[in-house]
Amino acid sequence: MLMRYWGRKPLELIDKIMNNVHGTVIDPFGGGGTIVFSALRHDNKAIYLDINPYAWLVTFVNVVSIDPKEFEEKSKEVLENVYLESVFSLHNDYLYYPNGKFFWKRRNADRITEFFSRENFMKLFSILKSIDKVESETEVKIALYAAFCSSLFTSSRMKRRNSGSWGVPSYWVPKEHEEVNAEDAFKMSVKRFSSYFRRNKGYELNVDVKLLIGNALAFNYPDQSIVFTDPPYFDEIQYMELSFFYWAWLRESNFKKVIREVLGYEPEFRISDEIIVNPNRGVTFDKYMETLKAFIIKVSKVNSKYLLFHYDNDKLREKVIKIVKENWTRIKVDDFEIVKQRKIGPRGGKKYLLVSSP
Ligand SMILES: C[S@@+](CC[C@H](N)C(=O)[O-])C[C@H]1O[C@@H](n2cnc3c(N)ncnc32)[C@H](O)[C@@H]1O
Repeated sequence: MLMRYWGRKPLELIDKIMNNVHGTVIDPFGGGGTIVFSALRHDNKAIYLDINPYAWLVTFVNVVSIDPKEFEEKSKEVLENVYLESVFSLHNDYLYYPNGKFFWKRRNADRITEFFSRENFMKLFSILKSIDKVESETEVKIALYAAFCSSLFTSSRMKRRNSGSWGVPSYWVPKEHEEVNAEDAFKMSVKRFSSYFRRNKGYELNVDVKLLIGNALAFNYPDQSIVFTDPPYFDEIQYMELSFFYWAWLRESNFKKVIREVLGYEPEFRISDEIIVNPNRGVTFDKYMETLKAFIIKVSKVNSKYLLFHYDNDKLREKVIKIVKENWTRIKVDDFEIVKQRKIGPRGGKKYLLVSSP
């Protein structure tokens, strides 16, 4: 996969389950797109949904067919037309929720702007504005915004020496950081993206795969479909909060307008609709469980259902099985353990539960 996303599930595990799945697969908690990717390469059609526009962007470049030649030409144009803008901060980029409480995973910074040196900030802002001006196919333009996002961490003060990715899922500036020059970081991303687009033909948008942004609880699931999903569950990875790092930049650009062309509507960044335990937002474990139950009930009429759960304690496992048993018929329970799974946070686990009603 081209772009990373938190909480991605092992493709081998999903492929194994997908071998027995045939039809239109809907993943309403789509994340980085592993499930739709697997569904597509097993010759199914797929519908992806996620509340988080950044997850949508990651999935877009991971699965959609993008012309590498046009992408390369347009990224050259972006760099040639960079006009250095004297802008020094992003609008309303503070790390807090609408209720005034700080982000749960904020450590030692107050706003996104602080993660960039003044020089890199101006360069990044100018690259973003140059992308806005490029005229190209919508898919290519979206890929340019994605390449921009993919260069943000590397050009930020979060980047440590000898480590290129956002390993710890929190906002922090390590004492010894070593950010890369923003233009070089963008060039590196472009190179990686074009080599991925050359190697992977991708799938056709709205023919093979539909990509949507929205709330899984507000979606109308056709009875004759397959829901295969991996809901979020614990508080170590605050997807929306972390994605704000990218969103604070993207919303300064024409990104929303551009993706409206493929979505048919302008996306919103609604942290309040995210299903996740979060003490600062007042979402307790019980509240989270209630919402998860509402989802399980909502999809109960769907013909075929697969709920994958990456859990860290047996009590949670029992609770999920109990809720599903009360609301679905013909339940099957399978357990998996992925030995090489990377541990995320103190409570990260290696165990997976699959509750299905195939
Ligand atoms: C565990 S991740 C999915 C990871 C994905 N299976 C993968 O392998 O990349 C869960 C996703 O659910 C999304 N999510 C949380 N609340 C949601 C909601 N109400 N509606 C839709 N998506 C939601 C999060 O943004 C996150 O991307």
